[in-house]
Amino acid sequence: MLIQENISLRPFNTMGIEARARYFARFGSVSDLQELLKERIKGASPFILGGGSNILFTGDVNGWVLKNEIGGIDELYEDKNHIYVKVGAGENWQSFVEHCISRNWAGVENLSLIPGNVGATPMQNIGAYGAEIKEVFQELEALHLEDSTIHTFSVNDCEFGYRESVFKRKYKDRFIILSVTYRLNKTPQFNTSYGAIGQELEGMGVKDLSIAAISQAVINIRRSKLPDPAVIGNAGSFFKNPSISSSRNKQLQQRFPGIVGYPGAGDLVKLAAGWLIEQCGWKGVRRGDAGCHAKQALVLVNYGNASGKEIYDLSEDILQSVKQKFGVELEREVNIVV
Ligand code: FAD
Ligand code: EPU
Repeated sequence: MLIQENISLRPFNTMGIEARARYFARFGSVSDLQELLKERIKGASPFILGGGSNILFTGDVNGWVLKNEIGGIDELYEDKNHIYVKVGAGENWQSFVEHCISRNWAGVENLSLIPGNVGATPMQNIGAYGAEIKEVFQELEALHLEDSTIHTFSVNDCEFGYRESVFKRKYKDRFIILSVTYRLNKTPQFNTSYGAIGQELEGMGVKDLSIAAISQAVINIRRSKLPDPAVIGNAGSFFKNPSISSSRNKQLQQRFPGIVGYPGAGDLVKLAAGWLIEQCGWKGVRRGDAGCHAKQALVLVNYGNASGKEIYDLSEDILQSVKQKFGVELEREVNIVV
């Protein structure tokens, strides 16, 4: 196995941030990974890299960066309503979505065009357009970093929440996800109620609804709103949409009648962080090569040579101004590394 030293991580993060890894290696199998873990300097936890679309490097990584390239899509078994498919953590997510759509396996079409790899999908329970990965999640296999034992996690074990899982909290940096088994539906339950999907399908002239049509509608909407990382560096939404109590929301509505919020769990209201940020005047603001996207204020961008620190500092100023104006604390969604 090739272990490289002092490697630039710029090609490996969609923010396009320049940072260096002291040691860098790729693994395509569990045995390769176990070999690498024996090699690495004891004590230092390696940083596990997927597609690099949800991270911000704020400095160099002085230890190991291990890129997960475990592949494979295996149909395990099926029952009356479902098909169970085990996918290697290193498979590209959108390729897997296309694989499902071409076979008419339903459940992931609303999650089309989310960048990154399969192994990261449970990390923050990826979500978009009215769907979350937990709805099609069956189980995952992960290797414990301390003793290289392999553990199976059920949906309950993962403690999924909005952009949350046990792997971002209790088990942060403790496991490497090797594979994810998804439970796809043989009969689609179309989900077109979220946002502009219905409108987009109408505009597309769709008469017979299908998962392929929904996927295309989601792709069209995403392309119209979100910057393409191949053109301009970004990691999607930089912050989570914050939840507040409905009484607090009512108070805010009196002061800010245009505030955008959606019913959340229980008594909570989920506010559109993009609206809060826009109201603070950040939308389209550029500081050097760091900026707040002109079409979607929730997305921070790198126009070319911004450092991770510059993006982070911008995010901190945004966070503070939203706190000052609305009394609402934003939480970063992107994983800050180093
Ligand atoms: P990485 O960025 O490589 O890693 C993310 C985190 O997971 C890191 O902490 C890393 O250490 C850890 N990790 C990765 N793989 C493993 C593994 N195998 N085992 C253990 N830890 C691992 N997200 C959404 O939820 N919804 C969206 O709609 C959405 N839209 C986006 C749009 C754009 C344009 C971009 C750039 C990003 C968007 N994202 C969205 C965020 C991102 O695409 C997802 O979070 C994605 O799942 C990250 O996958 P990745 O492989 O790139 O992870
Ligand atoms: N809005 C503004 N100004 C902005 C941006 C948004 O006022 O600059 C308001 C608008 O009222 C808009 C509302 O916010 O209607 C919601 O915006 P949008 O539909 O773009 O969704 P979002 O809440 O900003 C979330 C996810 C996205 C996901 C979309 C679609 C989070 C943190 N973000 O964005 O996920 O794709 O919904 O479901 O939950 C990501 O996680 O990286 C990501 C892109």
